[in-house]
Amino acid sequence: MKIKDCRLISISEKGDDRGRLMVVEGSKDIPFNIQRIFYICETVNGVSRGNHANKKSSFFFLSIKGSCKIKVFDGEDYREFILEETSEGLYVPKNLWKSMYDFSKDSILLVFSDENYNDEEYIRDINEYIKFTQTLTL
Ligand code: TYD
Repeated sequence: MKIKDCRLISISEKGDDRGRLMVVEGSKDIPFNIQRIFYICETVNGVSRGNHANKKSSFFFLSIKGSCKIKVFDGEDYREFILEETSEGLYVPKNLWKSMYDFSKDSILLVFSDENYNDEEYIRDINEYIKFTQTLTL
């Protein structure tokens, strides 16, 4: 997967005069079945999270409160996304390196994945990741 495979996806909004209602349906609003949800909140100032790649899991990142930034790297190019809308999330397919940082104090980052947690599918060393991406293009 390459940087071009990441994309911002608008969330369907079903709100009415009572307020806002946002819906994310697996394999409909986002391009995978939802197997796992986790959220990142009360992040300590200055912290950078992630800093790894996943060989199996794809992700959809949705900032439901506050803001944060996500940098995605494919072994050659990188791109930075700012997540600050509740109505737009970032799809990051498997095999991409990602870092999340610049969390606002009130940030709640909701993360959807198509896989259960499995430590064995993680690459946590950037040099190992770059070598891995070279095997992918062969
Ligand atoms: P870590 O991979 O450092 O989180 P992040 O990518 O957000 O920086 O995970 C921190 C700990 O939580 C680590 O022990 C693994 C565990 N964990 C789970 O058990 N399940 C999960 O879904 C996630 C994301 C992490």
